[in-house]
Amino acid sequence: MQQIKVRAEAPDDFRAIDVVNLSAFEGEAEAQLIGELRSSPVFIPDLSLVAELNNRIVGHVVLSKVQLKSSKGTSEILALGPMSVVPSQSHRGIGSELIEAAVARAKPLCFSAIVVAGHPDYYQRFGFRPAKEWGVTCNLPIPEDALTAMELVKGALAGGGQVEYPELFKALF
Ligand SMILES: CC(C)(COP(=O)(O)OP(=O)(O)OC[C@H]1O[C@@H](n2cnc3c(N)ncnc32)[C@H](O)[C@@H]1OP(=O)(O)O)[C@@H](O)C(=O)NCCC(=O)NCCS
Repeated sequence: MQQIKVRAEAPDDFRAIDVVNLSAFEGEAEAQLIGELRSSPVFIPDLSLVAELNNRIVGHVVLSKVQLKSSKGTSEILALGPMSVVPSQSHRGIGSELIEAAVARAKPLCFSAIVVAGHPDYYQRFGFRPAKEWGVTCNLPIPEDALTAMELVKGALAGGGQVEYPELFKALF
């Protein structure tokens, strides 16, 4: 297989990232959300990653800040998604490379955990586990099983709590 290169997005990539999201998802909501995230305080440019194949952007993932509210207080953790790979290049490991790169880049930024609202069977292969194992829920209208999480700092999710996604994400539902 040709080499996949994963790197942080640059402004010149925005149109190509839109195309990837519009081709991978049924509507425009994800592409629109990513555009809005870029001008929001929860956005972290170094954690909006593209996958390039032959100098063409074929995948994208974004991790942004969300709040975890528990009886111990409020902390800032990361939420992974939206994530997308163009249908013509799916099932070739590009999504896996994006997730592995995203987790590796999140660790040195000192965030203690990552949550994902998405296909639980997919994310569990990368070390995400059902969020309910820690008593972690979220404010999105998704089934309990659709929320998975990964601790980057051991014990970070031990107190459970509710993940508060920004209002922007509610447009996806
Ligand atoms: C999900 C997605 C990002 C995976 O990208 P990818 O490059 O195909 O992923 P990989 O090649 O690393 O892994 C493929 C595996 O993912 C799993 N997978 C893909 N889509 C899945 C889904 N909807 N639910 C569960 N598992 C899924 C399959 O087990 C697949 O394995 P296979 O190739 O043996 O069939 C891509 O299919 C996509 O963009 N889908 C549409 C948008 C979307 O649903 N994004 C995720 C939102 S949570």
